[in-house]
Amino acid sequence: MKTESFRGRDFITLLDWSKEEVETILDVALDLKRRFAVGELHDHILRAKTLFLIFYNQSLRTRNSFEAGMTQLGGHAHFLDPSKIYTPALPGKEVAYSTERVSDVARVLARMGHAIAIRCYGDPVDWVYGAANELMRNFAYWADIPLLNMECDKYHPFQALADVLTVKEKFGTFKGTKFVMSWAYSPSVHKPRAVPQSAIIAAAMMGCDTVLAHPPEMALDPEVIQACERYAGMNGASFAISHDFEAAAKGAHVLYPKAWAPTQIFKPPVGEDNPALAQEIFDRYKDWKATPEYMALGDPNAIYMHCLPCDRGWEVTDEVVDNTDPERGWRSVVYDQAENRLHVQKAVMSLLMR
Ligand code: CP
Repeated sequence: MKTESFRGRDFITLLDWSKEEVETILDVALDLKRRFAVGELHDHILRAKTLFLIFYNQSLRTRNSFEAGMTQLGGHAHFLDPSKIYTPALPGKEVAYSTERVSDVARVLARMGHAIAIRCYGDPVDWVYGAANELMRNFAYWADIPLLNMECDKYHPFQALADVLTVKEKFGTFKGTKFVMSWAYSPSVHKPRAVPQSAIIAAAMMGCDTVLAHPPEMALDPEVIQACERYAGMNGASFAISHDFEAAAKGAHVLYPKAWAPTQIFKPPVGEDNPALAQEIFDRYKDWKATPEYMALGDPNAIYMHCLPCDRGWEVTDEVVDNTDPERGWRSVVYDQAENRLHVQKAVMSLLMR
């Protein structure tokens, strides 16, 4: 494969990338991880290059892994709070001397740096499903430098890369690996769908036997489901949807239970703009919680995954999150996932921003 084809491209969803390209990213990530582990400097790769980080939402892992990653590659990550610049906005959402049109922001930053990374979902786009992805694509259209998606309302591709890298490290293969992405209860209904949608895309693309488990009301984007079915067919693997929390977990190698919003939370036409009904639906499923008994349903070597932050006591018990001891059988790999954010992002930046 011509790795030159990576240079200058946007990274908005894994759906824009081939399996072969994603495998290359994972290979580069493992190489950079090895170099980092032995203290080998690799700060020539993006020396004196600048990444602009625009965060409409809060973050621990994403912000710090991008900032640390750029430092290690020899460049600089510049944090931008949208409320402290003129908030980038699309036509129709502009406020005089408070916002600035995305087309202008994108072209100005593209004259000064080498990539723009954005996180935007939920409140900043008024819970209109797809509006944050549209904002990101508009940035990408106007900026002639790579646009990196740090999580929109549809996709969280860097989290998904870290997830499949972690699976690869733990099991050495994707073939025959049962990957269960499951809904789990949280008192907060305001949870984007980006993580589960990107996780099942990545797992199915790489060839895992992928299961999506959720209460009937928590269906994900049909376009994502279709893509997973297509990838499963291409890989000779399976993709299934289950509405049974415990049955789905049986024999699983990967258990990834987390909350996401039902459609009622979104504005029409996708949703109903009815948070009270969303809360009522959520509260019917408080028993969808990752406990040691739940983990024991999986394979004896099952791993517990979560993108973090997790809602301890609701989505998952402390005993499950904190059990990183492989001697006990199933174990939590959440800190490995978080660590791998650094390495996959460095790989993508190295390939795209050279
Ligand atoms: N998993 C993840 O994206 O974490 P942050 O929200 O802390 O960035």
